[in-house]
Amino acid sequence: MLTPSLILSKNHCTTYQTMSLHVKARCEVYPRTQDVKRFIVPDDKVPWSVDFPEYDPIDYTSKSVASQPVWADSPDPATITFNCIDKSCNSDRRSNEGNYQVINGCPRNPRGRTGCKGRGTLGKWGPNHAADPIVTRWQRDSNNEIVKQDGKPVLEFVAVQRRDNGEWALPGGMVDAGENRTATLTREFGEEALNSIDATPERKAQIQKLLTEFFKNGKTIYKGYVDDPRNTDNAWMETKAMNFHDEQGTSVGDDAADVKWMPIHKGLKLYASHIDFIRRTVENHGAYW
Ligand code: BGC
Repeated sequence: MLTPSLILSKNHCTTYQTMSLHVKARCEVYPRTQDVKRFIVPDDKVPWSVDFPEYDPIDYTSKSVASQPVWADSPDPATITFNCIDKSCNSDRRSNEGNYQVINGCPRNPRGRTGCKGRGTLGKWGPNHAADPIVTRWQRDSNNEIVKQDGKPVLEFVAVQRRDNGEWALPGGMVDAGENRTATLTREFGEEALNSIDATPERKAQIQKLLTEFFKNGKTIYKGYVDDPRNTDNAWMETKAMNFHDEQGTSVGDDAADVKWMPIHKGLKLYASHIDFIRRTVENHGAYW
């Protein structure tokens, strides 16, 4: 049950920019394919500034993207103006990493080579923006005492199991055209984390209202490039991850099969860069890792 005590009063904001060399963005086989194999890019050849004359990335854009659904760009990137807000489709084509290069009309991944050109399964040329809510509370025992490990309190976060690959992840999602990041967080959390909760439509509407309040205050944990397996040389994921902490732990939800409160420790295996966002959240709260 969600209660108004979830609503937080503080709003700190810190932005972290640095992240290590992308690894998932160089995964051998492109997600949701069997035979789309990336050109192998050794660590030292990732930066565009390093010469790699033999580099011959595979060109892949999935059929669903190529058929140009509403959420996807035109197949020809030369028709698009990058590094700005694109009013023609209400799309934010700016990167949190600063201005990215556009070579012969085609945007270039700011973190370097991926072994694949085209858009893969991503709709936009250049940055594809997502938002990730990190909803946390302290783990409590049957006496309602906060659980400790190595003398430190243990945090839990709301995790969802992704339908595409079964991996556990934050309940995030893509920013819709013209939508601000906070609206995306609220909508996605509502859609992904609360969908499985058994409640009447009235109760769901009530929850949605409380969530909107709850999501007004949060702390930015990360804003920028995501090491996502779908990334290519010309299309990549970026996200804004925000932490919403429920100090009193009154936001108990059902532990449905594909949504749960997951106790946090450093051994967790999560989708894309989500474990990095979780680690930063743990540091902020001085929790067990
Ligand atoms: C997911 C987000 C994730 C982003 C980048 C989106 O599809 O919904 O949770 O952070 O991709 O990997």
